[in-house]
Amino acid sequence: MQKIVLRVNGHQHEVLADKDEVLLDFLRQELDLIGAKQSCDRKGQCGACTVIVNGKAVRSCLQKVSKLDGAEVMTVEGLGTPENPHLIQHAFVLSGAIQCGFCTPGMIMASKALLDVNPDPSDDQIKQALKHNLCRCTGYVKIIEAVRLAAKFLRGEQSPDELYPADDAPKMGTSFPRPTALAKACGTARFTVDYKIPGALELAVVRSEVPHALIKSIDTSGAEAMPGVAGVLLASDIQGTNRLKYMVVDRPVLCTDRVRQIGDAILAVAARTKAEAEAAARKVKIELEPLPVLSSPEEALAEDALQLHEEHGRPNLCFCQPMIKGDAEAALAGAAAVVQARLDTQLVHQAPLEPEATVAYWDYEDKEYPRLVVVGRSINIHHHMHMLQEALDWENMTYEEAFVGGQFGIKIDVVSEGVCAAAAIKFNQPVRYIPSLRESMLMTPKRHPFRMDVKIAADAEGKLSAFFNDMLVDNGAYHSMGHVVATRALHMLAGSYHIPNLQAEARLVYTNNPWGAAARGAGAPQANFALEVAVEMLAHELGMDPFELRLKNLLQPGQSKSSGRTVSQWPMPGLMEAMRPHYQRAKKEAAEAKQGRLRRGVGLANGSFGIGGPGDQAVAACELDADGGVSVYAAAADPGEGNDSMLSQLTAEVMGLPLDKVRLHTRSTDLTAASGPAAGSRVTYMIGGALVDALEQLKEAMAETGAKNASELEAAGRPARYLGGKKMSDAGPLDPETGQGPGFESQVHAVQLCELEVDTETGEVGILKMTTAVDAGLVIHPQNLTGQVEGGADMGAGMALREEYIAGQTKDWRGFKFPTPATSFPHEVIILQTPRVNGTLGCTGVGEMCLVPTPPAVINGIKDAIGAFIRDLPATPDKVLAALGKPQG
Ligand code: FES
Ligand code: FES
Repeated sequence: MQKIVLRVNGHQHEVLADKDEVLLDFLRQELDLIGAKQSCDRKGQCGACTVIVNGKAVRSCLQKVSKLDGAEVMTVEGLGTPENPHLIQHAFVLSGAIQCGFCTPGMIMASKALLDVNPDPSDDQIKQALKHNLCRCTGYVKIIEAVRLAAKFLRGEQSPDELYPADDAPKMGTSFPRPTALAKACGTARFTVDYKIPGALELAVVRSEVPHALIKSIDTSGAEAMPGVAGVLLASDIQGTNRLKYMVVDRPVLCTDRVRQIGDAILAVAARTKAEAEAAARKVKIELEPLPVLSSPEEALAEDALQLHEEHGRPNLCFCQPMIKGDAEAALAGAAAVVQARLDTQLVHQAPLEPEATVAYWDYEDKEYPRLVVVGRSINIHHHMHMLQEALDWENMTYEEAFVGGQFGIKIDVVSEGVCAAAAIKFNQPVRYIPSLRESMLMTPKRHPFRMDVKIAADAEGKLSAFFNDMLVDNGAYHSMGHVVATRALHMLAGSYHIPNLQAEARLVYTNNPWGAAARGAGAPQANFALEVAVEMLAHELGMDPFELRLKNLLQPGQSKSSGRTVSQWPMPGLMEAMRPHYQRAKKEAAEAKQGRLRRGVGLANGSFGIGGPGDQAVAACELDADGGVSVYAAAADPGEGNDSMLSQLTAEVMGLPLDKVRLHTRSTDLTAASGPAAGSRVTYMIGGALVDALEQLKEAMAETGAKNASELEAAGRPARYLGGKKMSDAGPLDPETGQGPGFESQVHAVQLCELEVDTETGEVGILKMTTAVDAGLVIHPQNLTGQVEGGADMGAGMALREEYIAGQTKDWRGFKFPTPATSFPHEVIILQTPRVNGTLGCTGVGEMCLVPTPPAVINGIKDAIGAFIRDLPATPDKVLAALGKPQG
């Protein structure tokens, strides 16, 4: 221990510092300054913990407190408060640079350190100053804009007041500050990890390090004897089914006799502190008997392969759906040009910055049967609570969604909640389960890898006549929603195009690889990658301009998609025409560029993405308040996309209210009814639609009675609360033989243009600019829309070029090749607004769209630059060099 004195946000603290204590812990645990976050297991890779020490931005996880005698520390809380924000905090709010907000305090502090010494930084200087700070949501575009805007504010050239929209600005089409942005900018928004519960036990979970084995014995005696240990939680302690059933019963909370993937949870140790729990967990002895490992779908489909879920009555080939439209073989025979290829997509981690934490505590109002409150990461609080109730046999439960640091599909299913709630029940105490990043990677579902054998054909004029896609999908060890992903890939098989003859099949196969579930786009990015690369190959085969080939083959209203569902709106031609001058400019510039070591390329890809899904339905309620404001009750998670803005602005628009008279209640099962997940880009279309239905009922009642507030409405004999609903017109499964049947009733469309440069010596690909033309119907909040487009494209570029999750090897952000400010790129977004039939005030969803066309746009750009297609993602430098016929590093 060493006695030191330091100042934090102007206050002096005398501290007895342990030699290993880091500043991040001191700030969070001793001063309850929760603005500094931790994402990267204190490896200095994420920058979420950035604060300023003696005028310099530092990562507080790397700073020993004992070395800070006399230091002046500033955290985001010291910069400004929601009541009195600093100009940099204003700039982040106004620029739309805050989505989930987990990176925001660190970004703001790094920006402050830069602007203190450089009042007018260039974009390169901004990127350099933020080089240690990661963001998964924004693609860094709006963060860089925010720093530029902050610089302007600080130089006195502009003031925030000039930019905040007026209260009476139109509620549709205006980028009002997000309801939670200021709290996130000032570090006061509480994420799960920020919940402190007196007396809570901390958990350490022991997980399998092998992909497949029988559990022969477990010896916990050493762990139980360790200091601070409250006990050990085993599968046998769980009173319910011990199965987390999202759709299928195959995944345990804790394994009983067998592990099926690296990372499977076997037991948990509960102790007074996290360090004590982890120390005790290291004393657990587990004897495992290795079983054969099915490391690919091909191995799992072998005749003599061991069946992974025999006990659940599920074969390795757990889902198979054909899709047959027209006569593709006959069309092939008469085609003027045919190309075929095998195309592979990889296993990808969705990579939200925040670890997958859960806390659980007891409400003893009912002493006989207390209520268990689970606070966590869910984007589907009601369904997840039901899963926990069944798995743990504890009915009296509430699920509350905390602020979460990004989602992108990873939160579609329950992970840390199961073991945390089970431990709270066993030990009858509050419990916090704050896993590391490494552990979060191990426990979460991933993007399914697809192997796709495709064939595409056209007549001599370039009219597409047939498309084949044989998809082999690696489901990993557990099913979750695997068949939904495979089915969505089939629904979006033909993308933006009219292809009269289709023949495809999706086979979903259990393996001992990490389990798959939702990942931004869920099946569509994989299928669209295959389609758009095949279309590009065909253009080259036909000697046609890829732009013209795409334009010629767009679906028209009245024609049908792959499932046979006829469309009434298809605004793709307008998007392509909007893109045409950009495409021509990019091609011209690439042709004029000196083609030496660096080669320029231009890639194009389309995307048409279905919103929600057949059979989807949602409910939402609204209630007139005593002051004439309106409260909204809807289980609509907002892990960063902007759903809070959407619900607020829709309500203000329909009811003619100022935004401060709209009150959202969206995060607790106690206050809302089940309304499905914040996934499938469905929240605006489905939950927003249900809300508008409720609001219109309320408005009608107010108009009929002349009531202006709740008491007047009730005095007139009408209720103050109204429940609205929305249902998709299409329902039911696809025909099991032909894949024909229902479809998506609403689509979002985009055309993506990627300009890039390939370094032919290193194989590195640098994206110079992305341009997107997008139509998501009428726009509620332009900044949120472009934020989704920019973030989606950045994630798509990562999938195209770098990102891959390798079980047992990928342990941190550097290993995952997380996108950084250095890999970010400028992005121009062109917005067209075709009001959607059945849309929510003409709007539909957008969240996943701009990942969907990005990987093929990048791969097609690489082909344009070097003359070769990279057929298996990601297009790493080694693969690019191999395509160039050069030795690889
Ligand atoms: S927690 Fe400090 S850099 Fe990631
Ligand atoms: S806003 Fe940056 S990680 Fe979410």
